[in-house]
Parts: sequence; structure tokens; C-alpha cells
Amino acid sequence: MPWQPAGVPVFGCMVWNAAAQSSWLGQKDVADETTCNGRQVGAPERSIALLAMCRRAFFILARYPRSKPSAGYGESMRTVFWEDNKVKMIDQRVLPAEFVIAEYDTVEGVAGAIRDMVVRGAPAIGATGAYGMALAAQISPANDRDGLLNTLRAAKEILDQARPTAVNLNWATTRLLELAEHTVLDNVADLRSALLAEAEAIADEDVEINRRMGFNGAELIPNGANLLHHCNTGALAAVDFGTALGVIFACQEQGKQIHVWVDETRPRLQGARLTAWELMRAEIPMHLIADNAAGHLMRTGKVDAVIFGADRVAANGDVANKIGTYKLAVVAQENQIPVYAVVPTSTIDLSLPDGDHIPIEERDGREVSHIGGEAIAPEGVPVYNPAFDVTPHRYITAIVTEEGVCRPPFTESLRQAKEAAETRVQANRKARAQRKA
Ligand code: MRU
Repeated sequence: MPWQPAGVPVFGCMVWNAAAQSSWLGQKDVADETTCNGRQVGAPERSIALLAMCRRAFFILARYPRSKPSAGYGESMRTVFWEDNKVKMIDQRVLPAEFVIAEYDTVEGVAGAIRDMVVRGAPAIGATGAYGMALAAQISPANDRDGLLNTLRAAKEILDQARPTAVNLNWATTRLLELAEHTVLDNVADLRSALLAEAEAIADEDVEINRRMGFNGAELIPNGANLLHHCNTGALAAVDFGTALGVIFACQEQGKQIHVWVDETRPRLQGARLTAWELMRAEIPMHLIADNAAGHLMRTGKVDAVIFGADRVAANGDVANKIGTYKLAVVAQENQIPVYAVVPTSTIDLSLPDGDHIPIEERDGREVSHIGGEAIAPEGVPVYNPAFDVTPHRYITAIVTEEGVCRPPFTESLRQAKEAAETRVQANRKARAQRKA
């Protein structure tokens, strides 16, 4: 399955547009010359425009999920996947300088990869946790159901501790454990297959969810918008397509002209290293900015909306996201700029009443005192390095999910989105079982 079928109409549409512009379809062949931005352009320029359109179409299609990633620049990818009985993932620590696929055949290895940010971004961490559970089942020596359940409970504990803030990890490991606990399957081999199938389903659903979320969010973004984006929320932060960047990719597919201000996102520089890389590959106009430039851009009217993902959303709509998000949201409100969080429902944690209950990860001080292994502060400097912050819901204009756009009061709209998603998961599971029978 080289391409998802949804890519075909998009490609067709782009070729049609390109052809129309270059008079393939006879719409402009009455004259040898036409105008562009008030300027006369001739056939050679139209051919160049056509080539540019085809190239752009290629890049859009290149983001469509394939059954497997191709290891190389300019190719499509899944951030995390299962192959040869191993969990494989794009090593995000070395991007954009190198493109490397890391592979793990132990649960501790997978947990270490999450902790060291080989893989990162809430939905990507969730899918990795699911594959980690499937891996635990595959390599377990257990020969009965109870033995396998013990293996899975131990694996879940190891995986869940890898990173505390993104709830998607716990959400995914719980989904696999519950499947094993509630299944009617008694045969261990069947149970192993069912767990791997569930992990694959989580990964596949993630791509589909992100596309739905992207197009839901695109409704909020007018043509010509300047968006301010924090951290990395693209294909790399999910299994594919992404959350907040998914909205921008969806806008591009709709033909909207969007420009993105890309926060570099200190200390780990996900914006500079990953978001800039993804946007440039997709040929979406952007500028990389120092985090400290954001307030100035907002005050001087250069930002139409602030958009980001999230690692956990509490029941009242408080949003935990990459450190620095809160500051952006406060300044945005001061300047009457809308603030959009784009999250799959797996990121919503209705068990927590508000953001004060969200655990905030603290990471190694070297992430602040060093860049690329080089010290930028005096040797031995004391550092405090919280990786996330909480933005109170009063600063959030809307929370975009795959089930629709949630508006205040979030307590009600988030609950409805969660319920709709749960119904969909059950229906999908039933359909899969029926297909198999
Ligand atoms: O520390 P990271 O890189 O895992 O943090 C990621 C983010 O904060 C993202 O913005 C978040 O996961 C939401 S989007 C996928």
C-alpha cells in the first residue's frame, strides 16, 4: 500500500490546478501570455509554475502515511513503527543533521528511548508505549494468560515512568493492558497477536485522527494568516501528520496561504530543529524566531493566531504544553489574538479537575547550560529546568480535537469530545473483529 487513497484526489486536484494555470486544459490558451500579480508571464514561466506545483504536490503526498517509513530525506515516514519484531523509530535527537532509525527489542530500551527523547511529542510517545507493551508480550516467556498479564503489568510500570506529563503514554499502555485483561482469548499466541494488532491500530488511528483534527482546526484559520507556533507538533510528534502543524498542513491542502513564525523552543530547540525542518520540507512559508521575539511580534500586529499542541489537558481545559506556552497565551490575550490548542482526545485527562494536578517533568540541567554538548554557562551553574508549563483555560480560545472544536465551557465540551471518541474506538474495534471473523 504505497499511498493512502485520500492522497489521490488531492494530487488530482493539484494537477488540475497546475494544468489550469499552465493552459493544459485550454482555459488560458486563447492568449500566449497571461498575467501574474499584474505582470505579464509567458509559456516558459508557466512551465516553471507547473513544475513547482508538481513538486509541491509531491511534498504534500510525501507526508501521507505509508505502510513503512523510508529512511531518507525527502521521503515519507512514520515516526514509530513495528518491524522484524522490534520497535523502530526515527531518532529525533540527531535531526536535522542526520536521519537515523533507532530500534529496540526490550521494554527497558523502549522506555529509555522515550526518556532520552529519541521519540517525543505526546501522540508519538503514546504509540511508542503501545508498541512497547506489544513487544513485552512478544518476548515474554509466559505460557499462560496469567503469566502474560504479569509481564504486561510490569512492562506498563516501566513504560509509564519514562515521562510523566504526556498522558498519552499512560492512555496507550492502559488500553493494551485492559485489552489483555478483558479479552475472551485464552491462547497466549492469540493474545500476543491481538496485542500487536491493538498497537498497530493505535498507530493507524493516530494518523487518521490527526487528519480529522487538522481539517477541524483549518476551519479556524483564515487565508493569509500569520501563525505563531511553539515546540514541534508535526509528523514527528505523532505517528504522522501531526497536531497543530497538522492544522497548517491541512490549510496548505486547502490552498490557503499561511505563514508560520516558528519559536525556536529552548532548551531542546524542537522548533528550530524539527518544526523548521518539517515546514521547509513541506514548502510552507516560515521564519524561525528566538523565543523572546514572540511578544514583540504579537504587539506589532504580526500574529493572527497562536497555535500549539498539548501534553495533557485537564477536565476544565487547563493545558500543559512545552515550557513557554503560558507566556505566549498571556501575551496573546493582552493583544486580542486567539489561542488554539490542538489535541487528540487521548491527551484529555478528565480524571484531573484542573492544571494544578498535572505532573510537570523536570529535566537535566545540562539541557539549559549546554547546547549541542557545548557549555554556554559557567561550569557548575545551578539550573532549574521544568519541561512543561500549564496555561489556564481562560487564555485558551478553543481546543481542537478529532471530534470537533471545543469551546468554553470546556468542562462540558471536552467531556462530549471524549465520549464521542470512545464510541468511535468501540465501533472501530467491532468493525475490525467483524472483518477478521
Ligand atoms: O518534550 P517534548 O518534545 O516531548 O514536548 C512536546 C510538546 O510539548 C508538544 O508540543 C506536545 O507533545 C504536543 S503536540 C504533539
